[in-house]
Amino acid sequence: MSKEPIPFLSLEPQHTQIKTAVQQAVQQVYDRSSFVLGEEVSAFEKEYATLHDTTFCIGVGNGLDALTMSLLACNIQTGDEVIVPAHTYLATWLAVSRAGATVIPVEPEESTFNIDVSKIEAAITPRTKVILPVHLYGQACNMTAILELAEHHKLFIVEDNAQAQGSRWLKTLTGSWGTVNATSFYPTKNLGALGDGGAVTTSSEDLATFVKQYRNYGLAEKNIAVYLGINSRLDEMQAAILRIKLRHLEAWNEQRRELASLYLEQLKDVGDIVLPLSDKEAYHVYHLFVIRTAFRDKLSIYLAERGIGTMIHYPVPPHLQKPYKALNFRKGDFPLTEKIAETCLSLPLWPGMTAQQVERVCKGVREFFQ
Ligand SMILES: Cc1ncc(COP(=O)(O)O)c(C=O)c1O
Repeated sequence: MSKEPIPFLSLEPQHTQIKTAVQQAVQQVYDRSSFVLGEEVSAFEKEYATLHDTTFCIGVGNGLDALTMSLLACNIQTGDEVIVPAHTYLATWLAVSRAGATVIPVEPEESTFNIDVSKIEAAITPRTKVILPVHLYGQACNMTAILELAEHHKLFIVEDNAQAQGSRWLKTLTGSWGTVNATSFYPTKNLGALGDGGAVTTSSEDLATFVKQYRNYGLAEKNIAVYLGINSRLDEMQAAILRIKLRHLEAWNEQRRELASLYLEQLKDVGDIVLPLSDKEAYHVYHLFVIRTAFRDKLSIYLAERGIGTMIHYPVPPHLQKPYKALNFRKGDFPLTEKIAETCLSLPLWPGMTAQQVERVCKGVREFFQ
């Protein structure tokens, strides 16, 4: 068996596949000398909206801004509450705080890692304005239940689709269920740019207009401002690259799913490992393949010594991060989230990874438990 190191993530196979197309696209943008809000951004916005069957897509600077602007589009006011998963990447919470609202965390389901929909209703108060589901690690949340709750309580839904481009709930793409939805094109995402990028999708013309203006200094037209906006625009180079990658997204997600099924098969009944559960209504696109074990730290060191990279998503939950001290969260407040933070381990997985590489990772994991 090969002794070549297996990194946690390699973009090389994807980037080799599209190298010539990307070079040509970059050259075209260069030759056109139009670098901000030009024809590549418009074309990408149309293609991404069409894919999601939403009327509008607005390309923005990154996922955090996409989420923040989505929330602001829902007319968030100070004192409003937003229901968020306790177990998520910090950026989800930051967006709520930056929009001026208060985070109301809800524990995850242990099996899928996504927000536990059975616990959302108890968190709703008269101040609740938005439910913010995060399709974590590439798996859709239970959008049927979330939609029902939102309709019943007259709340907005803002999806955080940063980790789940191409994933579906009941055959409908994530990023198209909410009132207004945000995604990130950070380079490691399933649809990643070669730098920062993000987008907002919505079928509301008013909300789309708000985001379109807000991302560009709040300008309604040249030199006429209507909001205290920001500068957060997807740039032409990134849009041109994303248009190429978008054509491969489905095939790359299929590869992720095949690799995940190899892991699921080969890591069955190994040590105390808890494998990720894919909900039968969800088309999981495995942005990350996350296992759980009480021996997480030792396992990750053991694998590293054998040249196998792993990562932890995420070792410190948002409620235990310093900026959230002001909300008086304490260790023990969200025990399931904390348990996941202490036991989760992400194994290598990327489009173009080989079955032999998965086999070597699994062999390493099995040897550790022997
Ligand atoms: C769940 C989630 N939300 C939001 C973000 C923020 O995206 P960005 O890094 O583009 O700001 C990320 C990205 O890391 C993420 O994983």
